[in-house]
Amino acid sequence: MEPIRVIIQGALGKVGREIVIAVCRDKATQLVGAVDIEAKNISLSLPDGTGDVPLSTDINEILEKCPADVLIDFTVANATMPAARLALKKGVNMVIGTTGLSTDELTELEKLAGDTGAGVVIAPNFALGAVLMMHLARIAAKYMEFAEIIELHHNQKADAPSGTALLTAKGMTEERGKPFPDPYDSDKNFKSRGHVVEGIPIHAVRLPGLMAHQEVLLGTAGQTLSIRHDTINRECYTPGVLYAVKEVVKKKGYTYGLDKLLNL
Ligand SMILES: NC(=O)c1ccc[n+]([C@@H]2O[C@H](COP(=O)([O-])OP(=O)(O)OC[C@H]3O[C@@H](n4cnc5c(N)ncnc54)[C@H](O)[C@@H]3O)[C@@H](O)[C@H]2O)c1
Repeated sequence: MEPIRVIIQGALGKVGREIVIAVCRDKATQLVGAVDIEAKNISLSLPDGTGDVPLSTDINEILEKCPADVLIDFTVANATMPAARLALKKGVNMVIGTTGLSTDELTELEKLAGDTGAGVVIAPNFALGAVLMMHLARIAAKYMEFAEIIELHHNQKADAPSGTALLTAKGMTEERGKPFPDPYDSDKNFKSRGHVVEGIPIHAVRLPGLMAHQEVLLGTAGQTLSIRHDTINRECYTPGVLYAVKEVVKKKGYTYGLDKLLNL
């Protein structure tokens, strides 16, 4: 079978560089072009030293020059939409990891997918293990009496608690059909019990040396259950992105979230 031809927008970025390597390593995918606003050269050397592919600051030029099946985008929100409008109208499917798109922009992407017949997969978290951790926490939430979340991130992270921790807590109470019991009920004088969301205390740790880690702890009579995910480096996004690339060419339509793509 012919490999899936891929263009990466944001190819010189932190995540983009990892995806370049992963796409080149996978026999089912082939890097055919790259885009980045910081591009200084007209070609990007392949990481295995087997050659190079066209590189440009201009997505339109690369879409014209390099016939492709999928455009992967890991850039900034205001670069994603112009690229999506061009790519989808040309029938090039999209896998989008860029965060910060507005509700209106997501609605437009869904409409573009519908109108053009091309596929769009967009996910706020492409780390497979993190998506599975959230799914397992949802299952456990139905059966266990209490829950707490400890999330640990590098000290440059802008927000606390993390979006993943908030999403996990929300998903757990959704599945359970009600919030967990208020942990402050027994003693209002606790000084260090975390930020409580839907009855789940969330504890945020920020330290240099950490990347992204989360542990969901659940307890009921005589037992606890821990579900933990650790991100070791940015390579963690590549299995999820490659999975999405292989699915988007078959599935078409609009899919939001890796969990939906995995049918979790
Ligand atoms: N969905 C996920 O799982 C996931 C994981 C990590 C990061 N992200 C998101 O992916 C995006 C990129 O993250 P990063 O850490 O690689 O950032 P980064 O800043 O290292 O990389 C972004 C790249 O995009 C390029 N870029 C910016 N504007 C551009 C434009 N107009 N046209 C072409 N290229 C442009 C930059 O030059 C840079 O090389 C962010 O939105 C981040 O929040 C998503």
